[in-house]
Amino acid sequence: MSEVISIANQKGGVGKTTTAVNLSASLAKKGKRVLLIDADPQANATTNLGLKRTDYEFNIYHVLIGNKELSDIVISTDYKKLDLAPSNIGLVGIEKEFYDKKNSGRELILREKIAKIKDQYDYIIIDSPPALGPITINALAASDSVIVPIQCEFFALEGLAQLLNTISLIRKSINKNLKIKGFLPTMYSGQNNLSKQVLEDLEYHFKDKLFKSKKSSIVVPRNVKVAESPSFGEPVVTYAAKSKGSLAYQDLANSIIKSR
Ligand SMILES: Nc1ncnc2c1ncn2[C@@H]1O[C@H](COP(=O)(O)OP(=O)(O)OP(=O)(O)O)[C@@H](O)[C@H]1O
Ligand SMILES: [Mg+2]
Repeated sequence: MSEVISIANQKGGVGKTTTAVNLSASLAKKGKRVLLIDADPQANATTNLGLKRTDYEFNIYHVLIGNKELSDIVISTDYKKLDLAPSNIGLVGIEKEFYDKKNSGRELILREKIAKIKDQYDYIIIDSPPALGPITINALAASDSVIVPIQCEFFALEGLAQLLNTISLIRKSINKNLKIKGFLPTMYSGQNNLSKQVLEDLEYHFKDKLFKSKKSSIVVPRNVKVAESPSFGEPVVTYAAKSKGSLAYQDLANSIIKSR
């Protein structure tokens, strides 16, 4: 049985792509068959894996407009058991097409496309853009659950209510089984009081929605190896496997495997 997990938060730069890439690479390292779907026009997940976003004539855009199947665009990566559905800047055009009246009812297209290849994977991870537009709706409609990365900074919880509201609307309409897998505090800095405050707030309001490793909450620290790994086109879990950032993502993968 495969599990589809979206990584979503309409706030920009909170660690969605870093989480999508490193969770995918960690699960693959542990022997799971993983497909990472890059559903962001920025194509950062594609580049983080060392691939060039201009190289893929056919990409997730063509799947979302219904012209291609995922099997037509999926490529294998340098990492064993990890496949990628690449993205490309052309995906920005999708918004316009989705809002075109003659294309209504497109919320379920990704779900339909995933259904055809689902059996080939243990986990399908979807990286979504910083917006609650049609791409994120497609991702949430296609998913069993969602992981919400939350940056431990000022304004961290701003916008969270809107995201939770969107999730609840999706549950009431197109995907009643969508679960919140958990909140993942990211870029946590122990020297920063604000960071500590955000974590305390999360533990107070959402205790049962934080991922756990040996009873303590899994928190991704602000870590220089995490920050520099994308420029080497590598996930931190291979670039600096023993770094603190990498260990947090491996804990996250373990917690997800255990929760099956
Ligand atoms: N734990 C961390 N420590 C240090 N830097 C990090 C960490 N997590 C992410 N970053 C850096 O912060 C930036 C934003 O991260 P990322 O791209 O994962 O966020 P995002 O939510 O996907 O952004 P967007 O909304 O633009 O898609 C990147 O430069 C990334 O390398
Ligand atoms: Mg991103």
